[in-house]
Amino acid sequence: MNIIITGGAGFIGSHVVRLFVNKYPQYKIINVDKLTYAGNLANLKDIEDKPNYKFVRMDICDFDGIYKLMQDEKVDGIIHLAAESHVDRSIKDPFTFAQTNVMGTLSLLQAAKLYWDGNYEGRRFYHISTDEVYGALEMTHPEGIKPPFSTKASSGEHHMAYGDKFFTEELKYQPHSPYSAAKASSDHFVRAFHDTYGLPTVVTNCSNNYGPYQFPEKLIPLFINNIRHRKPLPVYGKGENVRDWLYVEDHARAIDLIFHKGKIAETYNIGGFNEWKNIDIIRVLINTVDRLLGRPEGADMDLITYVTDRAGHDMRYAIDSSKLQRELGWEPSLQFEEGIEKTVRWYLDNQEWMDRVTSGDYMKYYEDMYAGR
Ligand code: NAD
Ligand code: DAU
Repeated sequence: MNIIITGGAGFIGSHVVRLFVNKYPQYKIINVDKLTYAGNLANLKDIEDKPNYKFVRMDICDFDGIYKLMQDEKVDGIIHLAAESHVDRSIKDPFTFAQTNVMGTLSLLQAAKLYWDGNYEGRRFYHISTDEVYGALEMTHPEGIKPPFSTKASSGEHHMAYGDKFFTEELKYQPHSPYSAAKASSDHFVRAFHDTYGLPTVVTNCSNNYGPYQFPEKLIPLFINNIRHRKPLPVYGKGENVRDWLYVEDHARAIDLIFHKGKIAETYNIGGFNEWKNIDIIRVLINTVDRLLGRPEGADMDLITYVTDRAGHDMRYAIDSSKLQRELGWEPSLQFEEGIEKTVRWYLDNQEWMDRVTSGDYMKYYEDMYAGR
């Protein structure tokens, strides 16, 4: 297969590109990325010279460019991750989110429809979305209850749920932020292209990912870096909001499985049944960073700084991924305690990556790499 992966220079996209390039030498993987502030080719250093990998710098909104690329590369699969992904940025600049997430997705859909022209055998358009489209769940049990589910990821010491409802695939969409509204809109377009033109689509909605190569505007890498440098940790509101965390490589494995085995026109929720209040996760991060840096565990608790809450801050996300487990046999591989230890270690061991990102130097990587070619 010749597969376009969009957003492959970003956080999750880089893990998906790496997995496909290494696991499927018989496929050609074309990473299409505009290299916005969130795109970093250093995330793919280890695979950039592989013969089955190609990078194309392109905006997904460039319909003519995408259509021609599909023709030139005889593309038969698209795995679409490119998006503006940060909620706080969407609150400040909703236009960019509508442009990339909605119009960019539409441009890919239209290009695939025209190029495949009804010959859909062996072809697939896989759209990666978020649990945030479902809105927010209530905290009916703020102290935590034993959840009805247990998986490898959630079977550690913590293993709690903070409410009795979970996001299932049948729930109606109720997005609150400009980011999630734009993602919801793109999901609707994908389904509309299946229902109207028969495009072979599949959609997945995943919970919060964590792991290596995440841009340090997001909670986990930002806080690990701040703890290391003893900078304040800006906790929104009371730190009581709940997120459901999944190790990024487990998401990439789910994407691989669903791309190959998922049913056309289906939706699958992906999550680790792994709910945490922000403040509890922040305490785990402080203890872990302190321990790994040889500081007394908990010495940096005083960095916690409560700041004004995020506007429209969703209270609780919690994915029910039992459909994916039942129908395709997927389960997260890592327990959270293991995953967070691995993640903190990675950021501490890769300080150069972090420094290049925080200083802005990473933006020069592409120019340096392609200079003179
Ligand atoms: P990211 O912000 O780290 O990366 C996004 C990538 O898309 C970057 O490489 C960027 O350069 C590229 N991009 C942005 N606009 C583009 C455009 N117009 N044309 C081409 N490329 C463009 O994002 P991420 O966290 O890796 O998320 C990837 C996808 O997964 C997104 O669709 C997001 O909605 C979804 N998702 C993310 C999470 C999460 O926890 N991070 C959870 C569920 C779903
Ligand atoms: O649920 C999936 C979503 O997870 C993805 O669709 C998004 O692309 C991804 O960014 C993520 O969204 P969140 O808003 O949940 O992630 P973020 O890391 O920005 O924030 C996690 C929680 O931590 C959230 O409740 C807000 C809080 N927070 C975040 C930051 C950056 C803070 O308290 N302080 C901070 O500085």
